[in-house]
Amino acid sequence: MHKDLFSKPLLEKELKSIFVPDVGDWADKVYNHSSEDMCNIPDNSVALAVTSPPYNASKDYDNNLTLEEYLGLIKRVGKEVYRVLRPGGRYAINIANLGRKPYIPLHAFFYQIHIEQGFLPMGEIIWQKAKGASGSTAWGSWMSAKSPRLRDLHEYILIFTKQGYTRPDKGKSDIKKEEFMAATLSIWEIPPESAKRIGHPAPFPVALIERLIRLYTYKDDVVLDPFLGSGTSAVAAINTNRHYVGYDIDKNYIKLSETRIAKALKEKMEKLF
Ligand SMILES: C[S@@+](CC[C@H](N)C(=O)[O-])C[C@H]1O[C@@H](n2cnc3c(N)ncnc32)[C@H](O)[C@@H]1O
Repeated sequence: MHKDLFSKPLLEKELKSIFVPDVGDWADKVYNHSSEDMCNIPDNSVALAVTSPPYNASKDYDNNLTLEEYLGLIKRVGKEVYRVLRPGGRYAINIANLGRKPYIPLHAFFYQIHIEQGFLPMGEIIWQKAKGASGSTAWGSWMSAKSPRLRDLHEYILIFTKQGYTRPDKGKSDIKKEEFMAATLSIWEIPPESAKRIGHPAPFPVALIERLIRLYTYKDDVVLDPFLGSGTSAVAAINTNRHYVGYDIDKNYIKLSETRIAKALKEKMEKLF
């Protein structure tokens, strides 16, 4: 019965029959425009899209859209991600839920949107960012059943795939045994990155994206981040010998990502020689 809710995965021979273009000069670049239109990237060319969308929670890059407008943006970007992903390509979306009165389960809305678009859900990672938290419980509810407030230690990483659960092509995996064992568990404990250190309000830790890349892609694959921010996904792709491509609407974040990319490339060259 549940199968009716989801798109039907293609057979391996159908997946194999879809043309996947070679990596071209559209890759290893960052683009300063909205990922609602990723016309630079050909269809069926990206192995992994990994992103943390703007949370619409009054960070300085947020436009304070209504929930409906915000989900409209997520849908338009999701449609483009679906187009550019190769058969068996994955979309990993990092999302935190918001608020308490009401609690807005953004991850539930994200499931609905992406399943409707044809993505196949293939798992969910709880990214545990801290072991404990100090901080606010509402005044008058301390150690009382009056209105206890949950304090989130986690965010979600939702994993979707396009057209099939299995990559139909062959490639070189480079994940080590210990990392594979840890990465295939559904709870990942990785400390967050400092916003101040990076110069962006919500940077990913590089280690988080490197792990996703090694788990879900082959060497030399293309990794896309449609909401690139400070460029962490591109840095992680460089560090793991993958190609990158990214979008951000803010030119200052594009500049920041270009600086971080240049540094990562320099460090990689220095290690080689
Ligand atoms: C949560 S941040 C991403 C941070 C990133 N993961 C990092 O490691 O720095 C979301 C980013 O999306 C960008 N953004 C917002 N709307 C966008 C759009 N329509 N297209 C592309 N980027 C957008 C914002 O400027 C912001 O930098």
